[in-house]
Amino acid sequence: MAQDHPNLTVVESRAVSYLLLKLRNKDTKADEFQRIGDRMMRILGEEALCRLPSVVEGEVQTPCGTVTGPVDSPTPGPPVCIVSIVRSGDILQEAVRVLSPGFSVGKILIQRDESREDKPAVLYYKKLPKNINQSFVLLVDPMLATAGSAIRAIQVLKENGVSTQNIMFLNLICCPEGLQAMAKLFPEIHIITGCVDSHLNEDKYIVPGLGDYGDRYYGTE
Ligand code: PRP
Ligand code: URA
Repeated sequence: MAQDHPNLTVVESRAVSYLLLKLRNKDTKADEFQRIGDRMMRILGEEALCRLPSVVEGEVQTPCGTVTGPVDSPTPGPPVCIVSIVRSGDILQEAVRVLSPGFSVGKILIQRDESREDKPAVLYYKKLPKNINQSFVLLVDPMLATAGSAIRAIQVLKENGVSTQNIMFLNLICCPEGLQAMAKLFPEIHIITGCVDSHLNEDKYIVPGLGDYGDRYYGTE
């Protein structure tokens, strides 16, 4: 929780809890997992969009009075690039693109090597827009377990000139081990999550978690 990472936002939402329980259920089949997962990703996407640097505290006039809260800044912020950690991150990326079309898109293909005990993250491919070094990056991946994949992706972003001050990481489920690993290297990166689970098991899967997000969504279990 807050003690695991200094810049963590856990989305407080009954809708997230409700949909998450459906995703967690081991009897939920791929077709329902896709429908529920897509609904969930839209909620998470909205939570990220209202926390971009271009959103500030402001005031609007209603027909009957005045109200304050988060509003779009009158001065435009840096361009936004949504970067997915392929494959599961693509699901979240597409949800954000439906909500807010027009952001530039980056892809980083990283897979955990499940044959090794420590499940290291292996980088296979990257394609990032040329102006990424001037962009605010929304990095997306539903799961943060050991944090190996997220850390490798952030290294790629840094190698391409992105300041970690300009990265926000959006995920659905994380765990103390992953948050602590991120806090050690990147305490400045704002993490938005749907839930902080208990721990990792001996296979480095999140407990209780939901299993392998990509396998369950794409039916490749
Ligand atoms: C999953 C998940 C993250 C990573 C998290 O991807 O989507 O990318 O594992 O684990 P970590 O924090 O221990 O690195 P996976 O490698 O299974 O690929 P997939 O998206 O194709 O299923
Ligand atoms: N990747 C997943 O999809 N789930 C986990 O619990 C760990 C890694």
